[in-house]
Parts: sequence; C-alpha cells; structure tokens
Amino acid sequence: MITALFAHPYPRFSIVSYPLLMGLKNQFPKMDARMLYDLYPDGAINVAAEREAVSRSSLLLVLHPVFWYSVPALLKQWFDTVLGYGFAYGEGAPTLRDKAVLWMPSIGSGFHGRGFQGPVVISEVQAPIKRMWESCGAAWLEPQIIDSRIPMTSGDFASVLDSVADRMAEWEAEHD
Ligand SMILES: Cc1cc2nc3c(=O)[nH]c(=O)nc-3n(C[C@H](O)[C@H](O)[C@H](O)COP(=O)(O)O)c2cc1C
Repeated sequence: MITALFAHPYPRFSIVSYPLLMGLKNQFPKMDARMLYDLYPDGAINVAAEREAVSRSSLLLVLHPVFWYSVPALLKQWFDTVLGYGFAYGEGAPTLRDKAVLWMPSIGSGFHGRGFQGPVVISEVQAPIKRMWESCGAAWLEPQIIDSRIPMTSGDFASVLDSVADRMAEWEAEHD
C-alpha cells in the first residue's frame, strides 16, 4: 500500500504539488491520499487513524510546499504527534523499519528573485526531515524535488509525473 501525506494549506492555489497528487491518484486509485489540511482543518490530528494509515503502508509519499525552509505547520504537528514514542521510536516501536519515504517538496514559485536558492537550501531543509525518518528506521529514497522557481511547462509537469509514477509502479511490483 502506498500512502501520500499531502500538506498544503491552500491546495486551490497550488500550481504543482496538488495537480501532481491528483495525477498520481488518477494512476494509482488505491493510493491513500491524505489531505492533511482537509482532514484536520482545526489542527486536531487523529493520531490513531494516522498511525493506522502508516502501519498499513510500505511506501509513504510526503508532499508539501516548502514554507520558510521547513514544512507547513500541520505537517510538523503530524510529525510530532504521529511519530511518537512507542510507535515510531523507542521500546516496542518497529513500525517504520520496513517502510520507505519518498519526499517530494515543492519550492520557489511566488518568491522569484527574493533570494531562495533552491538547490543549496533544499539540502538544509532536507537534513532534519531525513534524519527524523531515518531515526524512525524508515528507508530514505532519493527525493523528488519539485522546483517551481521557473514555471513548469506542461511537458515538464508530465515528465515529473511520469518519473514518480514509474518509481511507484516499480515499488509496487517489488513490495506489494
Ligand atoms: C509562507 C511561505 C513560505 C515560503 N517559504 C519558502 C522557502 O523557504 N523556500 C522556497 O523555495 N519557497 C518558499 N515558499 C514558496 C512555496 O514553497 C512555493 O510557492 C510552493 O512550493 C509552490 O508549490 P505549489 O504550486 O504546489 O503551491 C514559501 C511560500 C509561502 C506561502
């Protein structure tokens, strides 16, 4: 089972990550696409439901726009509550050891010329997130960074979608 954690507070205005999620859902209808801001508009995450979703997945896609060199607030809240002691780390917590994470942050659009330097900064954004998942025992796959500093053409978008879909299909063939 593949689960997507999608954390975008304004999906209506999303040019890249929301259409990408929808494109993937279209190709993988069984994928559990969890729109965190729709599920938890008041920020009260259902930890048990999220843990159940994680437990039944072999691959987690994590999609979000980068906000101030980090993740949107609700995703941080998800990390801090769902990946808790006894589930994701600590005694009796083998939950994530057989799982992998494909991180798909989108960067840049709307901030042209204001000093965000995608390729340089993204490694800094990645560092704590990668460490967190690895500390929980999950395998960290090569991320799919979505660089929208220069608006994507429909061809660029299709090629990102195809490349992620290929990786997911390969994953399913090997794991599910
Ligand atoms: C509050 C806020 C903070 C942002 N911080 C960053 C940032 O630190 N680095 C960056 O590259 N882009 C930053 N952005 C731009 C978003 O990451 C970008 O608009 C988004 O990834 C585009 O993807 P989308 O089309 O799916 O919304 C920020 C945007 C907002 C609204």
